[in-house]
Amino acid sequence: MLSIVVLISGGGSNLRALLEAAADAEYPARIVAVGSDNDAPGLEYAEAFGIPSFTVVPTAFADRASWGDELLAQVESWSPDLVVCAGFMRILPPRFVAALSPNLINTHPALLPAFPGAHAVRDALAAGVAETGVTVHIVDEGVDTGPILVQRVVPVLEGDTEFELHERIKTVERDLLVQAVLDIANNRIALTSRASSA
Ligand code: GAR
Repeated sequence: MLSIVVLISGGGSNLRALLEAAADAEYPARIVAVGSDNDAPGLEYAEAFGIPSFTVVPTAFADRASWGDELLAQVESWSPDLVVCAGFMRILPPRFVAALSPNLINTHPALLPAFPGAHAVRDALAAGVAETGVTVHIVDEGVDTGPILVQRVVPVLEGDTEFELHERIKTVERDLLVQAVLDIANNRIALTSRASSA
């Protein structure tokens, strides 16, 4: 059974999808804790499923490195097999990444390496691409640069707003993330720092 800490910053719909999947006894992963960098609305899902949560707010620390160290201490106190960034909107400091990668994955709302960063959906729309999508990848020291595990394409429709396109991406993203975690738990996806690009 794969034990997971999920990190979120926002609404937590990907977290909810993982919690719902893990509620099935057949699903080979369990969420042991949920962490956040703020009082995120999505923490309510942790509470609803009876999963402990913790919040480590960057402004309470002198610098990013010490914030990262406390976040790492909180995560490691759960001894997870895997850490999943599901809408966690902060760049993780090098010590955090070094301690956990490659057992540290992120879901990103674009077909990386296209449109990394915090505004992937807006950037894809601005670029006028016909297709964008979702990527689940291992987190490395860069911003959305780690080895790609799985991707799925989502078409951009005429007149899409950023919200509409992101909602459509998130529908696909939730499925892809639940499937990726299943495949990791079943060793169909290997987490190595040299995972090849999909
Ligand atoms: C997801 O689309 C996730 O890929 C994105 O934030 C959303 C969170 O949704 N993350 C990033 O953009 C990271 N660069 P959720 O809170 O409803 O799961």
